[in-house]
Formats: sequence, C-alpha cells, structure tokens
Amino acid sequence: MVGLITMEDLSNEDVIEVLDAAERLLPVARGESYLPLLQGRILGNLFFEPSTRTRMSFETAMKRLGGDVVNLGDVSTSSVVKGETLFDTVQMVDGYTDIIALRHPRQGAARYAQDAARVPVLNGGDGAGHHPTQTMLDLFTIRQAHGRLEGLDVVLAGDLRYGRTVHSLSHALVRFGCRVVLASPELLRMPSEIVEDLRASGGDVTETTDLHASLATADVVYMTRIQKERFADEDEYTKVAGAYKLHARDLADVRSDMIVMHPLPRVDEIHPSVDSTRHAKYFEQAFNGVVTRMALLCRLLGVDVPGGEA
Ligand code: NCD
Repeated sequence: MVGLITMEDLSNEDVIEVLDAAERLLPVARGESYLPLLQGRILGNLFFEPSTRTRMSFETAMKRLGGDVVNLGDVSTSSVVKGETLFDTVQMVDGYTDIIALRHPRQGAARYAQDAARVPVLNGGDGAGHHPTQTMLDLFTIRQAHGRLEGLDVVLAGDLRYGRTVHSLSHALVRFGCRVVLASPELLRMPSEIVEDLRASGGDVTETTDLHASLATADVVYMTRIQKERFADEDEYTKVAGAYKLHARDLADVRSDMIVMHPLPRVDEIHPSVDSTRHAKYFEQAFNGVVTRMALLCRLLGVDVPGGEA
C-alpha cells in the first residue's frame, strides 16, 4: 500500500486534487455538516514524540468523517518500554487499523514503518526528516490567501537544519515555481544536499542570514521554532536560541497581502503583537490541518470526496 512518506509521493496534480477536496470539506471540518465518508474505518495514531496539532487534527479529521481512532497513547505506558521494535509495533497495529499516522524521533522511521505495514502510513514527522501532511496544510493556507501557489516569493526562516516542516515545504514550493529565500543563522542552514536538490530541480533558491532584509518583497514569511530537542550539544542551542524574532513593528513596510505562517508551537519567534495584524495566519493554518488531513485520509483510503469532477 502506498502511504505518504515524503512530498515525492504526490505529483503536483495530486497536490491540487487533495487541496480541492480539502476545500469541499471545509463545512464538515467546521462542524456545519456531517459527512460520514469514513464510517467503519479506523486510524491508528502512533506518536512516539510530543504532538498537539498533528495528532489532534488527525483525530478530529477522522471523527468528523464518521471514522474512529485508536491511539498508542503515552509511549511510556506501551510495550515500547518492554523493548518492542518499531517494526513489530507497526506490523501488529496494521492488523487493528485501516491506516496509520506515525510520528517518530528517528529520520527514516516512516519509510521503515511503511515496509512493515500493508495499510497506508502517513508520515506525521520523522526526526529532522520530513513532514508532508504539514506541507499539505501549509500549501492549502498559502493558496487560500493568495489564490494560487505558482510564482510566489516565500521566505523560510529559523531552524532550517533540523526543521522537518521546511524540508518538505521547500521541495513543494520549488515544484510550484516559487522563489524561495532560506533565512537562517549560519549554524542552522538548510542541509546542503537539500539546497542542491532544490537547485537541481530548477529552484530559484537564495540563502541569507538577514531575515529582515527579505521581508519587503515576500508574499509569505514562514517562521519556525529552533528544534531544541535535536541538538546534540546544549551550548550550540544556546548560541542560536532566540536568533530570529518577528515583531509587529517589523511589518511596517511589507506587502499588504503578505502572510506570516508558523507550523506551531512557537517559542519566541513571533511576538504576540503580530497576532492582531492582518498578516497573521498561523492559527488558521493550524485549523487547516483538519481539512487537509481529511482529504488525505479519504484519498489514501480510496474514498472519493463528493463535489469534484467525475
Ligand atoms: C512541527 C513539527 O512537529 O515538526 N509541529 C507541527 O507538527 N505543527 C514544528 C515544530 O515542532 O517546531
């Protein structure tokens, strides 16, 4: 079974189809109508790392569509503490469920899990690797604000080294012909193999340490948290902690339709003064996780979302 492990699993056409289906599901996500498309189906939520939005929005998505969810729950109360391997856990949960959402601290864990499962696996974040379902909701949010994905100027800022959201998102943006500015402290630059890949596929990609100089021409500014948990050395973290902070006063000269995004949780990258500006989109972005995950669950379970072209 084919799941969603990286953005390479979806063509641009697939991406647009999922975003269109997600749009049709907005009233269902808001609870204005009930559409039990996934009645009788069970999602297995296997989260081996902390999660609020990804886990809860998967669960909400499933339940709003009439489906059910089983959770691994707290890893410390599962058989993982007895030494069960990921491969065995997944092989077994495969028999309990119709689809699996996995988050794991190890890069590559989702692909490994897919090898153990017959049901589709959705990668909900594998270490510093990928986070494709987040990318889908990010693209949904960008398209909702700008009416298109093509040809936008997007600044990705913060921890580009360990941030899996920006690894997946940069790949998708380049495929849709966006110009991408990678703004990070030297220590947290996007891994060179990713930058090379983006450029090899024709991406217009610039690297800078100066976030503020990139704001004026941006259509999207995507802030990220410094991934403290991925640093081997606490001192290294201390050197870059608080490196980029966006305050409402920094937005005086930006484009009127520029949007500020963040996968959340934020630490101190976006000052609360930004929240009340027209540019803040991060809470809507988090809501969009429900519709896009609904559309992805339907697609991978082979269920059509009504209202599309036949
Ligand atoms: C992100 C993640 O887990 O990679 N969170 C999320 O899924 N919204 C970002 C982060 O933790 O910084």
